[in-house]
Amino acid sequence: MTSLPLRQRAAWLALASHHAQIADLHLRDLFAADPERGARLRAEAVGLYLDYSKNRVTDETMRLLVALAQESDLAERRDAMFRGDHVNVSEDRAVLHVALRMARDATLIVDGVDVVRQVHSVLERMEQFANQVRSGAWKGHTGKPIKNIVNIGIGGSDLGPVMAYEALRHFSRRDLTFRFVSNVDATDFVEAVRDIAADETLFIISSKTFTTLETLTNARSAREWLVASLGDESAVAKHFVAVSTNDAKVGAFGIDPANMFEFWDWVGGRYSMASAIGLSTMLAIGPKHFREMLEGFHAMDEHFRTAPLAQNLPVLMGMIAVWNANFLGYPSVGVMPYDQYLKRLPAYLQQLTMESNGKHVTLDGDRVDYATGAVHWGEPGTNGQHSFYQLIHQGTTVVPLDLIGFAESLNPLGEHHDVLSSNVFAQAQALAFGKTETEVRAAGTPERQVAHRVMEGNRPSNVLLAKVLSPRLLGSLVALYEHSVFTQGTIWGIDSFDQWGVELGKALANEILPELDSHAELTHDSSTNALIAHYRTLKGNEDARGDD
Ligand code: F6P
Repeated sequence: MTSLPLRQRAAWLALASHHAQIADLHLRDLFAADPERGARLRAEAVGLYLDYSKNRVTDETMRLLVALAQESDLAERRDAMFRGDHVNVSEDRAVLHVALRMARDATLIVDGVDVVRQVHSVLERMEQFANQVRSGAWKGHTGKPIKNIVNIGIGGSDLGPVMAYEALRHFSRRDLTFRFVSNVDATDFVEAVRDIAADETLFIISSKTFTTLETLTNARSAREWLVASLGDESAVAKHFVAVSTNDAKVGAFGIDPANMFEFWDWVGGRYSMASAIGLSTMLAIGPKHFREMLEGFHAMDEHFRTAPLAQNLPVLMGMIAVWNANFLGYPSVGVMPYDQYLKRLPAYLQQLTMESNGKHVTLDGDRVDYATGAVHWGEPGTNGQHSFYQLIHQGTTVVPLDLIGFAESLNPLGEHHDVLSSNVFAQAQALAFGKTETEVRAAGTPERQVAHRVMEGNRPSNVLLAKVLSPRLLGSLVALYEHSVFTQGTIWGIDSFDQWGVELGKALANEILPELDSHAELTHDSSTNALIAHYRTLKGNEDARGDD
């Protein structure tokens, strides 16, 4: 790491004074003064076209942002990640999701082991299994083929699988039913299995650690449901497989290690959809399409690794995110995919971005004195336009958007696709340029409405455009966001690969759980005590109120 704290670096200081100079410039001014801007502030790689011209940046801003990336040792740190150095400092681990996407003939020796060989040996096992299930050769306990696949996992062991399943549904086997159970709320599990037959159902228990309470609770209920339905404990062998790094816990749960698909501690949960955690994805779309998705990931990995910083898509997106968060002070980012198949992408990106960069100390453990990870959220277009876009256009909070569009639909139907796409371009245009008072008046607007109809504009967006959503494109798109997150985390000097903040809530829930159904005296703060006491009352457990 560079020795200077972030806000003392030369490029940061230069960006601060540059910001003071351009802060009052409107995107209208920037476009008027520079008619080539839209054709110049763009970059393209591996099938993704990024238009970043509608951000509140100039060429000088971009030059300084690249200088900040250089001064923050982005290239060195990126190379360290690709080499397998322990860049996850607080957990002392390598961070090698990029190895999951490397070609079979590549080699990467980490801590004395060729991890690429490990990756491909698991991929081959996954393929054999997927082919067996998809062909009907894998028989359930009563001799029937599998028709339903239920992935049980949470966080990275759920969001990647469900997002990819939805995203690539067009390529999936329609005679197989896929369900994803994550919440410990029993409703999630009960509704998932309500209409499926146990003897045609395969459960994939996905958990990196195999200790996650939600997943194990759901997995136990799944096992009870299956055994109760089929009347035989031995049925578990044909209806349960596990994806994990923890073979001892998988064995202890009662799943044959032969039915476990392995991954490794150098794959972070939220970076794991290309690992065996993607087993449900492979079952849905088949090994060939899964390999194409991996190739798409790898293509973006290679672009990130080799392209000059100023033309490097993840670097550009990451540095613009730093500019928006730290210099313009925008605390949030909206991700709006204009493709219904990407409806779970915003939820997926919430974990990727916010669990990675929601950190308040540096790698050295010092409190940061600048904003880090922005709040990410979103909805597929055009639905968002008819709910929260009002605030994005005229609210007092500015929310930079990533608008993601495609030139072709996987379901061409009449004019639908052009209607959809016209909205991508129109939204970016409306956000940037708005509508002035003069324009509103010129349109004959009644005077009492003029102020209401003025759109300030000057609201930033990125537009990402690709030809069509394919397994390959999905891989590249996810890798783009992964490396953008890495870029931001590197500038901020934080550990983008740990997640200590989730631990306290888990520990407190474990403490509270036995108190909910007991008479035990409550010794928390007065608010928590009162809430638990009221919960006991509502449950009808008057004796157990414990508050007097
Ligand atoms: O609680 C957060 C978390 O650790 C995530 O980082 C992870 O993706 C999720 O829980 C699930 O963990 P596991 O795959 O070990 O069950």
